[in-house]
Amino acid sequence: MKYVIGIDLGTSAVKVLLVNKEGKVCNEVSRPYPLIQEKSGYSEQEPKEWVEKSVDALKELVVQFSGNVSDIEGISFSGQMHGLVLLDEEHHVLRNAILWNDTRTTEQCQLINELAGEDRLLDITKNQALEGFTLPKLLWVKQYEPEILQQASVFLLPKDYLRYKLTGAIHSEYSDAAGTLLLNVSEKKWSEELCDIFGIDAKLCPPLVESHEYVGNITEEIAELTGLSVDTKVFAGGADNACGAIGSGILSEGKTLCSIGTSGVVLSYEERNNRDFQGKVHYFNHGEENAFYTMGVTLAAGHSLTWFKNTFAEHESFDSLLAGLTEVPIGANGLLFTPYLAGERTPYADSVIRSSFIGMDSSHNRNDFVRSVIEGITFSLNESIEIFRESGKNIDTVISIGGGAKNEEWLQIQADIFNAKIVKLSSEQGPAVGAAILAAYGCEWYDSLEECANVFISSEKAYTPIPENVEKYKQLFQLYKQVYVQTKELNEGLKRFRKQ
Ligand code: XUL
Repeated sequence: MKYVIGIDLGTSAVKVLLVNKEGKVCNEVSRPYPLIQEKSGYSEQEPKEWVEKSVDALKELVVQFSGNVSDIEGISFSGQMHGLVLLDEEHHVLRNAILWNDTRTTEQCQLINELAGEDRLLDITKNQALEGFTLPKLLWVKQYEPEILQQASVFLLPKDYLRYKLTGAIHSEYSDAAGTLLLNVSEKKWSEELCDIFGIDAKLCPPLVESHEYVGNITEEIAELTGLSVDTKVFAGGADNACGAIGSGILSEGKTLCSIGTSGVVLSYEERNNRDFQGKVHYFNHGEENAFYTMGVTLAAGHSLTWFKNTFAEHESFDSLLAGLTEVPIGANGLLFTPYLAGERTPYADSVIRSSFIGMDSSHNRNDFVRSVIEGITFSLNESIEIFRESGKNIDTVISIGGGAKNEEWLQIQADIFNAKIVKLSSEQGPAVGAAILAAYGCEWYDSLEECANVFISSEKAYTPIPENVEKYKQLFQLYKQVYVQTKELNEGLKRFRKQ
């Protein structure tokens, strides 16, 4: 039996999945790493941690593997998007990576809009300037750490850096490059026009390949460190959301995904490179050649729940925290939560807004808070679904993956809030499965990603909306939407009291 490995370089951990030719997940190893948050709005990681932890996880996977290592034919990647890694001439890392959920770059986003013009930016990149994207981070470094940018020879995205350390070859690929705000998304090339406007040397942009493309074998050093064969082929991989889509079979028009990890996204497949959402949702290249997807993002989805657990129930498991969900009625006895711990992207691109609990009274207990956190995260994702529906998309079925697909009650809440059938897959590890599918297709085991996805993915259970719950959630959603508007100014006032 032949095998491939899918590596998902996430925000809180790296997950390494061993999958056989029949699509069975044979083993999974994970290694966590911390976020470095020096100030409010800052979020960084050390690239060398990604490499050390990935190598360590691969090593354990190989130790636990009882077959012949040369049967592990290929590796591919899924990676947290947008993070900026800067390398010098010798390809040494110049500073910590600035991550997708870092919002220090509001000033640079304004500059981008002034210099390029919002319409021209949308024409070229299909997206609006948002703090999380890579170009604003590059401009922040240019402004505040010019000596670092002067030494830079190339910038890379997180999983592209990991792949470089595994192969020695420098590349990016379209699905992640799309999130830099420097790619001409429909023409699939770096925008010289934008580089010129912002004074970014075009040589900093790495060469582009397709997600399933072979880029080389692992180096001898990596083979020695991990126990893998030097013949292990490496394929470029994709952005985590593109891989989540591949790993959930979102490979044709009309299919929608809800993925709740640290961030939460609602994503819909697009065949065309020229639909106009006026930047209200992101519009990126897919990991499938010449396909696209649109996506709304909740910055702190799973992160809101993790924050709540770490702060108020540190020593408990998520399962025990969520066990009380069913004991609380819809609406958490009048408690509403907005998941703006890190600001927000969709539908409000606002780095200053922060979370609220609205309606607390002394009868509320921990279960009410947990239910309101879960409902608030789901309401936020429903705002993206609403944008898609308003644009004419028909959303009657949603595939749900990630942490949000691990709990039955939360899946039912998704069905009731989205008013759509929710499908849970037999593995909720979408991005890592997507990376494995890219490797399997790269190895030419299958003729298309879709053919491979049909073998690798199966549905386990569906949750249908309950009309009475849908009605209640519709009313609550109207109240939820007012919280942003009512707390915006308050948060602007509070900003100067935050950790600077
Ligand atoms: C998407 C985004 C997040 C990260 C999480 O635009 O910023 O979903 O990809 O890893």
